[in-house]
Amino acid sequence: MSADEKQSPFPAWMDTAGQPKTAPPCAFVLFGCTSDLAARKLAPALYNLYADGLADPRTVVLGVGRRDWSDDVFRDTMQNAIVSYSRCRPDQAKLTQMLAQWRYQRVDLDEAADYRTLAERLNALDEEFQLGGARLFYLALSPEFFPTIADQLGATGLHRPGREGGFSRIVVEKPFGSDLASARRLNERLRTHFEERQIFRIDHYLGKETVQNIIAFRFANALFDPHLNYQWVDNVQITTAETLGMEGRRGAYYEQAGALRDMIQNHMLQLLALLAMDRPDCLRCESVRDAKARLLKSIKPLAPEDVRRRAVRGQYRAGENIKAYRDEEGVAADSNIETYAAVRLEIDNLRWRGVPFYLRTGKRLAAKTSQVVVTFQRERPDLFESFPGCDVRQPNRLILRLAPNEGLSLAFDAKPPGPNLLLRPVRMDFAYETSFASASPEAYEHLLLDAMIGDATLFIRGDEAEAAWAVVDGVRRGWDEGLDDGPRFYDPGSWGPAEADRIFEDPHKHWHRL
Ligand code: BG6
Repeated sequence: MSADEKQSPFPAWMDTAGQPKTAPPCAFVLFGCTSDLAARKLAPALYNLYADGLADPRTVVLGVGRRDWSDDVFRDTMQNAIVSYSRCRPDQAKLTQMLAQWRYQRVDLDEAADYRTLAERLNALDEEFQLGGARLFYLALSPEFFPTIADQLGATGLHRPGREGGFSRIVVEKPFGSDLASARRLNERLRTHFEERQIFRIDHYLGKETVQNIIAFRFANALFDPHLNYQWVDNVQITTAETLGMEGRRGAYYEQAGALRDMIQNHMLQLLALLAMDRPDCLRCESVRDAKARLLKSIKPLAPEDVRRRAVRGQYRAGENIKAYRDEEGVAADSNIETYAAVRLEIDNLRWRGVPFYLRTGKRLAAKTSQVVVTFQRERPDLFESFPGCDVRQPNRLILRLAPNEGLSLAFDAKPPGPNLLLRPVRMDFAYETSFASASPEAYEHLLLDAMIGDATLFIRGDEAEAAWAVVDGVRRGWDEGLDDGPRFYDPGSWGPAEADRIFEDPHKHWHRL
């Protein structure tokens, strides 16, 4: 815990009056500045933070890449990216002002001399813009480069703040490893040079307003949390569905990942952890991360032999004007990589004993939607059971809509007006759009701001990443060994393979229609 955190009852991103802080100036060193991620997400997020006055105007963005670019080429490229992808139309004057602080540095990632030049450049920028020695190294490139970059930064002393103090932090994108063993190795390698408090592992789902709101709705209200346990809950379903496929550019990455590694190991297990964790002692970073880590460690890991009963994988075939996954660029013609994955998990603690958690995710499905549905047990004894107008009933459900139409609904039964005793399903709805006037910032805005401020609450701690791999590693092994007859094919625009219902131990249960 930092000295700051000890003194303040607020998380690091609030000042002592409980107001959001702005980020201090720093050198934002963007490795992989020519990447798609930099163009689509990072540069627009940096602009919006600047335009909203949340990033210090002295902040310098130093793009790092292998290309022989000048500062001007970098600025022009980023300007185009911001104009194309920013969530709101950029103000040209502000954009020009901000980009005047952006610089480019050519670095060959294996070349020690290039890191010495980088260090000199950072010292010079420190002096020129009074950055107080603060550096944030953002690695927006393939994870195979993380160890080398961490080693080189360590060897050059860049894992320490600059001469005047400040800070040195490293932000790494997902995927964090490809299994438990590689995640452990990566953690060890990063920690050779950086302390855990300096390492920020990104999961962009944690930057989404609706995901953070899980903490608010659970712990700021007396109504919900007391009912989130085995005495009340029948089952929980978490769905993240996408209509997109490989978009002509993601095939090669996806061949190494698949839906299990791409979505379940990180985003979906983080959602599960936030929904199921015990109440943290307070909202400070390590309390929240301790609670999440405890929960992740108590999920029963799936074993290879579970893949028949507790996991299903699928792959999209060709549809009208849609290529089959196997015909996508960068994908092997006989690929068995899953574009759909579903698993049934159980949590081995008192609170959740016996409650199944069903997770499913897929590409080229019927809709783009992310939802958590908590289904409650039926009321027993049921006073309405013997009435003919009350026989077709759904159990109560709490529905968290993460996207689209962000909000929360409660589904329950009510009696319609009239002389007969009938029950009909009704809903109580909260929608962000109607309750709050302001537009939600992009997830990356929140996360970049937190990283610059030094609040790691919404970043994955090393032990969380390892615990999540331990949950899914067995499934991957089972699938790689073909213990389940391979992926089931599904039509684009469907809800995945019909076999996905196989993971329900009770034949009356099925996936919610979303
Ligand atoms: C990324 C995955 O982490 O999340 C992508 O690599 C996926 O495959 C994306 O499309 C989904 O994010 P969102 O915010 O659109 O739900």
